[in-house]
Amino acid sequence: MSEVLSETVAAGVLQVTMNRPDRKNALDRASYAGLIAAIAAAEADTAIRAVLLTGAGGTFTSGNDIKDFAIAAAAGEGPRVAIDFLEAISTAKKPIVAAVEGFAVGIGTTMLLHCDLAFAARSATFRLPFVTLGLCPEGGSSYLLPLVAGSKKAAELLMLGEAFNAETAAAAGLINAVTEDGTALEVGLAKAKALAALPPESLALTKMLLKRGSAQAVAETIATEARHFGERLKSPEAMAAFMAFLKK
Ligand code: COA
Repeated sequence: MSEVLSETVAAGVLQVTMNRPDRKNALDRASYAGLIAAIAAAEADTAIRAVLLTGAGGTFTSGNDIKDFAIAAAAGEGPRVAIDFLEAISTAKKPIVAAVEGFAVGIGTTMLLHCDLAFAARSATFRLPFVTLGLCPEGGSSYLLPLVAGSKKAAELLMLGEAFNAETAAAAGLINAVTEDGTALEVGLAKAKALAALPPESLALTKMLLKRGSAQAVAETIATEARHFGERLKSPEAMAAFMAFLKK
């Protein structure tokens, strides 16, 4: 079974599907490697004009695989491959559209900050449980979330780590729109097709200009968060949280 499926689903549209449905598409090392390879393939192929990112089995992703977190922590390692993925998605030149059904937890939520467009089903559930897991924000979220949601909302979502719904995600600037349940992929595909039909050079230039002002701060924040995150992974607070989840 491949952890990430890549398929051209319409002219110029590469659908990239996180595919560990029995784990709610939790992202392990192979998943991150698959996502990085899919983004690189899209970037290198002039026939691909837009990427449509989604999850199999009615779930976007439950975030980093907690077993992998525990293994990395025990080995004294950091979240390197996750950071490589975040660097890839945050610097991709081709437009990326996300379609969310079900859960978008942790990096499942923060990766939306790097997608150009995002759509989520009404019953989708989002969560940024970094503090509850003894960790800290990642993926540039400590910089980008205050920017798009406002500082109070960002503090609420990143500190309390409570689940929130698609309406809240839309109000917080994480998604463009709420769709009916079961139709996020259809809506995302329609927007990806629309992007793929546009003049690609003009589209790439527009994406670059939209990101230019924040690109350096995003890159620096991802790197700074990653250093702290790597330290937090090895902390007793985090290990206790991982064990509690894995034993449940
Ligand atoms: N890492 C590892 N395993 C995970 C996982 C993750 N992030 N998310 C889900 N799984 C596993 C579950 O342990 C469960 O395994 P089991 O069948 O052996 O019991 C299986 O996937 C199905 O998940 P389950 O918890 O039964 O589904 P649910 O619909 O009741 O709940 C979630 C879904 C996403 C709310 C819940 O799985 C969850 O909270 N996951 C952890 C999210 C998280 O903290 N991610 C890290 C963010 S930094």
